[in-house]
Amino acid sequence: MSGKTLHVDKTKQENVMLRRTACRVCGSKKLHKFLSLGPIPLVNKFLGEEQLSSPEDFYPLDVYFCTNCYLVQLLDIVSPQVLFEEYAYLTGASEPMQIHFSKLADEVLENFKLNENSLVIDIGSNDGTLLQCFSKFGLQTLGIEPASNIAQLAEAKGIHTVTDFFDEGCAIKLRKEYGPANVILGTNIFAHVDNLESLMRGINCLLANDGVFIIEVPYLPNLLNNLEFDTIYHEHLSYFAVHPLVYLFRKFGMEILDVKQVPVHGGSIRVFVQRALKQQSQNVDNLLLMERKAMLNSLKTYLKFAEEVVLVKEKLVQLLKTLKKEGAKITGYGAPAKGNVLLNYCKIGRDVLDYVTDTTPFKQGKYTPGTHIPVFPVKKFHEEPPDYALLLAWNYADEILQKESDYRKKGGKFILPIPEPKVI
Ligand code: TYD
Ligand code: ZN
Repeated sequence: MSGKTLHVDKTKQENVMLRRTACRVCGSKKLHKFLSLGPIPLVNKFLGEEQLSSPEDFYPLDVYFCTNCYLVQLLDIVSPQVLFEEYAYLTGASEPMQIHFSKLADEVLENFKLNENSLVIDIGSNDGTLLQCFSKFGLQTLGIEPASNIAQLAEAKGIHTVTDFFDEGCAIKLRKEYGPANVILGTNIFAHVDNLESLMRGINCLLANDGVFIIEVPYLPNLLNNLEFDTIYHEHLSYFAVHPLVYLFRKFGMEILDVKQVPVHGGSIRVFVQRALKQQSQNVDNLLLMERKAMLNSLKTYLKFAEEVVLVKEKLVQLLKTLKKEGAKITGYGAPAKGNVLLNYCKIGRDVLDYVTDTTPFKQGKYTPGTHIPVFPVKKFHEEPPDYALLLAWNYADEILQKESDYRKKGGKFILPIPEPKVI
């Protein structure tokens, strides 16, 4: 499974904006590398036909554990300009996310005393989908979104949006112009930001004294338990559990009021943070206890995880090799970013997968980064069904298995890659 199309030996260090030497949360240098998934290209950069012959940029993808505050993190930071130019993710395009946001707004309105003078600010507000859930109840809203094309979509819906990267400097300007915020939301930023200090100083500046800061981040135990190693890539700089979050917020005079698990992005936590707490929910201690029991404070846990990841890779590669030998036709189902981590890490190229299909129009007609597999609309899958389809979008397994029941009835099989390669 060598795949002639792979050039994995060319790691381009100069595109790495910064190499951190200290932990992003606590500043400790007690950092231990436990897993290397690279070198790997940027997994959301699909290639046009004309780009296939040019050399591709590869980056290190090494994962570290801080033995002081227990944060799992990347230290090689790719410049956000390189990472997020032409970013095409739209919140409003996904129905499950719309429902999720609507429930979040209901929960906030139920639990905090807000009125039509209350200001709700969303950091990384995308196309304004989340803020719409607040503005429809008459609250004041303000979006902050770095991608101007996406900010314009929000403006068109009547959600006022400032085009900017949120940091302390931005917060100072916003505070002067709009006053303190009663609610600050960050549902898709915390894991993506390198400079958490500047972010938190910005929150401190912008949040009203009795205001609440609400974040959502993928929850580390889910990643570990389900071996979701393919969700590790350059856009995700931190992999949070509650413990390092407590550490971080305390540094800025804040405490976690409540935390709950929510079923998005492979299992996330929603965290409510305030300055002065009257009473902390028992949920906080419960999760901290669970994290101690799961030994999230021990390097051993992560070394074991890394061994399991290598085993998954070996099993998957072996399975595909055997099927290929038997003459099976195999394709990929879905072309998510995480799928590109899996394909590159396991060196699965065009010699194994004839093609992959994806419903996202801008991915169709392009090629997967690093592995150069052509991406087609799902029509191709129905017209030229394979014997086996590697389910790269495993987070939608239930939905896809149901949708493709005809394919399965006719004898077509899916291969689920994690937590253990399985043919179904
Ligand atoms: P997503 O879950 O957003 O993952 P990531 O953050 O790793 O990119 O991506 C899912 C991908 O799968 C997306 O490109 C759309 C595609 N997809 C299909 O092709 N068919 C489907 O039925 C579903 C649900 C998704
Ligand atoms: Zn640390």
